[in-house]
Amino acid sequence: MKKVEINKLYKKKIKLINKYNQFYFNESAPIVSDKIYDELKKEILVLENKYTFLKSSKSPANTVGHKPSKNFQKVNHKVPMLSLANAFSEEDLSNFQKKIANFLSKNEGYEISYCAEPKIDGISASLTYVNGVFKKGLSRGDGKEGEDITRNLSTIKDIPKKILSKNFPEEIDIRGEVFIQNSDFENLKDKFANPRNAASGSLRQKNPDDTKKIPLKFIAYTFGFEKGLNVDNQFDYLKKLASWGFKTNPLNKLISGVKKLIENYNEIEKKRSNLDFDIDGIVYKVNDFNLQKRLGYVANAPRWAVAHKFSSNKAVSEIKDIEIQIGRTGALTPVAKIKPINIGGVQVSNATLHNEDEIIRKDIRIGDTVTVERAGDVIPHILSVDFKKRKKDNLKFIFPEKCPSCGSKTIKEFNLTTKKEDAVRRCSSEGYSCEKISIEKLKHFVSKEAFNIDGFGKKIVESFWKLKLIKFPQDIFQLDYNIIESLEGWGKLSVDNLKYSINEKKNISLERLIYSLGIRHIGLENAKLLSKYFNTFQNFKNLSKTNKFNDLLNIDGIGETQVNSVKNFFLVAINIKVLNELEKLLNIKVSKNEKKNGLLKDRSFLVTGKLDKISRAEVKALIEDNSGITVSNISKKLNYLIIGEKPTKKKIESAKALKIKIIDQGEFLKMLNKTS
Ligand code: IVH
Repeated sequence: MKKVEINKLYKKKIKLINKYNQFYFNESAPIVSDKIYDELKKEILVLENKYTFLKSSKSPANTVGHKPSKNFQKVNHKVPMLSLANAFSEEDLSNFQKKIANFLSKNEGYEISYCAEPKIDGISASLTYVNGVFKKGLSRGDGKEGEDITRNLSTIKDIPKKILSKNFPEEIDIRGEVFIQNSDFENLKDKFANPRNAASGSLRQKNPDDTKKIPLKFIAYTFGFEKGLNVDNQFDYLKKLASWGFKTNPLNKLISGVKKLIENYNEIEKKRSNLDFDIDGIVYKVNDFNLQKRLGYVANAPRWAVAHKFSSNKAVSEIKDIEIQIGRTGALTPVAKIKPINIGGVQVSNATLHNEDEIIRKDIRIGDTVTVERAGDVIPHILSVDFKKRKKDNLKFIFPEKCPSCGSKTIKEFNLTTKKEDAVRRCSSEGYSCEKISIEKLKHFVSKEAFNIDGFGKKIVESFWKLKLIKFPQDIFQLDYNIIESLEGWGKLSVDNLKYSINEKKNISLERLIYSLGIRHIGLENAKLLSKYFNTFQNFKNLSKTNKFNDLLNIDGIGETQVNSVKNFFLVAINIKVLNELEKLLNIKVSKNEKKNGLLKDRSFLVTGKLDKISRAEVKALIEDNSGITVSNISKKLNYLIIGEKPTKKKIESAKALKIKIIDQGEFLKMLNKTS
């Protein structure tokens, strides 16, 4: 081979490996198997060895961006790593503050002291120290179970390996953020879309020596499990962290009241572009640990903290077309296809237009020049139209009156919360009769957080649907594998793999199953709440017979909107059929009731009247945390009626008639070994 030819071959291979890296790191979607990747890497290295004139800065010999390993050991977090609720406006913040005041039974004017911490956009990690020695480091994972990345974390200079301070707890999980400074990211720009991806990719390298090449930083901000931590508020905890040798954010502050929080937010937002690390908001945490404990958690986020997000990145582009997408709940979503542009390191070619009203309000037309905004992980959207650049032939967009997929009428529902007509137009067909809805439902059913069937991606759902192999969820478990094996692109091995992954997922938890059904407004968290409440699949399914939908309002976190949605689900006959069929095919595991043996096990309570210094929500949380049940009506099944100030007389009378035990706040707290 001639030198030019060798060079050409080499460049081709480099280009290819670069493409694989791009997909792996920046889109988290590998396009080739590990084997093919490793083979290509080897071919390049062999070429380089043989022909020393070959040179590329992107050679795998120079880059640190090797493929992150999938093979880290999974380890349970002793205390789960939670996520945070978001606030985007002053109003959201006031609501956050109001909810806290209500929960703690304080007046609206009650001022709470918050620890305000700039939220670094990196990767969170949990570091376990036993007797001052760094023993284990885990990634967040799904919050319950992380990956053991101890060796990689050990390469980070900011992570102390041994702490000699006398007041360091006997055991503690120190939690914080791993990130890359913007100045360091400059040199890694070719390989990663943004500093966050770079941090994540390098933390998950198979070989810690590769991690070491990237200047990762660590700042600490919270803790998980602890034994011997003597501190009663967040701000003091941060001070302790610094005294033990951890880096903490220099912009952390102790602040009281919403007004001052906003002032601080504005100040930090101004400084944002000059900081050497990316922040995407400010985390506010109720400072007092006692209050934090009382406030507790809702689903997987604490009631005592919130992330106040900054506004996002923007760029100008042009609308090429407007498409109507149909989601699994029938919503018709207009999507603008835009001329691809880079916003904050990510290539954007679609922007949501939300709904018909948004198009009318902003007068968005095909051909317009627009400003597109991308905030965090949220889908990019159109901020504004540049009317000066509008051409005469950019005509008004006419929103379809009929579902573009099945031709059914589209409707706008009445929203119970806002008491207004919904802005979203929906296809009115039910269940699985609209092709697009049905396909989207199935995609949701097999998706990661639902059944998570390995190898059963969106493309496969579409192709199996077209071939009439699947129409309803139950069809997935009764596939005709002979037909699949005869399809192009399938062989015995791939069919066996598919069969294996599907069979494996026949064992499913109730919460996942409920989530997979794709009931509107029933996301992961609500599915969890429902599954805890029903405990068995049978109880859940029986809703169609008992019709006790309103009882669901007793579940903390479930409101009228969710209840209506569940009701609508059970009103459609085909949904009941799906449930019956799935029941035959699956092994549905009952929900684990975490604190099964609490002090109030199996006892039910109802509160009437106002209690002293403790809100309804807190009583409910206290009861449920101790395995008790809260109900909203008096019935024979009720065990205790708790009476406070100005109780409802009728409730007391009915309770007496049914010989239900009537107790006051003091007696109730005694049951929990507490005094008021
Ligand atoms: S506290 C319950 N503090 O934000 C407490 N998180 O959405 C949860 N984060 O996964 C974490 N800076 O990666 C906390 N000062 C800070 C933080 C912070 C960044 C990230 C963290 C977490 C996510 C929560």
